[in-house]
Amino acid sequence: MTKPNDLLWWQKTIAYEVYPKSFLDTAGQGTGTIEGITRKLDYLESLGVGALWITPFYKSPMVDNGYDVQDYYEIDPSFGTMEQMDELIERGREHGIRMVMDLVFNHTSDQCAWFLESRSSRNNPKADWYIWRDPRADGSAPTNWRSIFGGSAWEWCEERGQYFLHTFAKQQPDLNWECPEVRQALFDVANFWANKGAGGFRIDAITYIKKPAVFEDGPADGEDGLYPVHAATANTPGILDFLHEFKAAVRDGRDIFMVGEANGVAAEELDQWVGQEGVFDLLFEFSHMHVPMGEAEIWCRPVTWELTDLKRVLAASQKATATNGWYPAFFENHDQPRSTVNFFRCDGPLDQKAKVLGAVLLTTRGTPFLYQGEELGYGNATWKSIDEFDDVQTHAQYDFAKTEGLADEAALAACTRFSRDNARTPMQWDSSEYAGFSTAAPWLPVHDDYATCNVAAQEADPNSPLAWYRKLAKLRAQRRELTAGSWSELMATDEQVLAFERTLDGARTVTLANFDATSASYDVSLVEGLSVLAGSQGQTTPGTLRPLEAVIWG
Ligand code: NOJ
Repeated sequence: MTKPNDLLWWQKTIAYEVYPKSFLDTAGQGTGTIEGITRKLDYLESLGVGALWITPFYKSPMVDNGYDVQDYYEIDPSFGTMEQMDELIERGREHGIRMVMDLVFNHTSDQCAWFLESRSSRNNPKADWYIWRDPRADGSAPTNWRSIFGGSAWEWCEERGQYFLHTFAKQQPDLNWECPEVRQALFDVANFWANKGAGGFRIDAITYIKKPAVFEDGPADGEDGLYPVHAATANTPGILDFLHEFKAAVRDGRDIFMVGEANGVAAEELDQWVGQEGVFDLLFEFSHMHVPMGEAEIWCRPVTWELTDLKRVLAASQKATATNGWYPAFFENHDQPRSTVNFFRCDGPLDQKAKVLGAVLLTTRGTPFLYQGEELGYGNATWKSIDEFDDVQTHAQYDFAKTEGLADEAALAACTRFSRDNARTPMQWDSSEYAGFSTAAPWLPVHDDYATCNVAAQEADPNSPLAWYRKLAKLRAQRRELTAGSWSELMATDEQVLAFERTLDGARTVTLANFDATSASYDVSLVEGLSVLAGSQGQTTPGTLRPLEAVIWG
């Protein structure tokens, strides 16, 4: 069993993800800045945050909002300067907050100097740094793989007379990890940021770095005749060898953590990936995100699900990390729709839904990763046309839905439900114009509800989601069983209530969360001898939960 004293700083803290483009603009330009993050360190500290994951801020053409890196050693001018980043790292330390950098190592931008050289000929020094292949005899792409952002995963390059592979957009060519110089160049980047004082790394799209020995067509899964590239390349045998090398070159001997983004790794495989013998400290796996979205992540193909489906995968992740590794608990990130929409099948007030999810997130076992705005209970954006969306993937999903025969309205509805832009609207700080995010028109419209749903308004309301998240962050810091205790599921087969207990040395906390819009009941013996530590809707009656109510007993 984990002992409180065995826990490392990143296991005891709360992590928070900032999407810098949408957090706070201090330059009056409509997009967020690094200085904007520094200004809000007090706010983050008030949420108990000790690790701040910042999505890419490196120099980039911004085809994918920074996940297309042009230069890993430079700050994109829209975000500010290296001096401002150094200051953020420094000031963060004073607040007890360490910065977690996003390493985008599966691909670069097509404007990166490495790629410009690689594409220039077949025999330059970086000729093998990317995945180049000859065309088929008829000149077509080497395989029928579909990129994650839609269309062929291959792009033709005239200079070389070859195709290059891109798992994501065509402006994001995949690096060739088989080439030792590439690996060394990437390890150098990570060490540069670790030496600057990063507290950890989130490693992007890491399960795609190892490509199969043989490239072959797969069975088409849609009207476009293509096969998802990740089905051919995710989690390919041999990938862990690369990652052990990475760990030895970057992680070993440092008081930092590494969390890998690992689509394609199932909960049962976690023990090879995390822990002492694994390659990362934590792994973002997506089994719970697939419950409402479907594993194929095709937005226009609706799936049906029950609460027990969600409970089953969450319990499997807990089980997989109970004795080895550590679980990063999350319900939102910059690639997902808002959780108040995503994890509920019923109507009901968003603030109550946000509190239900907050209760689960902040009392479960693992390090909670909050995403900006989640603590305010945002809903999804409600835009009227596909033209209002910025995200490259949303447009690809829309086009795919059209090839599948969906009418405009249905294709738009799928995007409204799942678009990544739902998470990327500007942070709502107050009720002034543009929600206090900027003095200029923001790059994405602020959410319609900003006049009432914003930090200032919620700070003044003791019943707000923000007040609830702050209260639970304190509770988590005070009660050792909430960090170091074991986790066991309660009421596993119940279709309305998600419940679990945390125990350590005789101390016990029970979380009961009603995910439905009707009241629910539970056996009072579950909370015998305990008192209410926090109730999301005020006074509660033992044995009963109001619609969308969460209660924590201890
Ligand atoms: C995962 C990132 O979270 C996402 O935003 C990005 O588009 C892809 N990887 C490609 O880097």
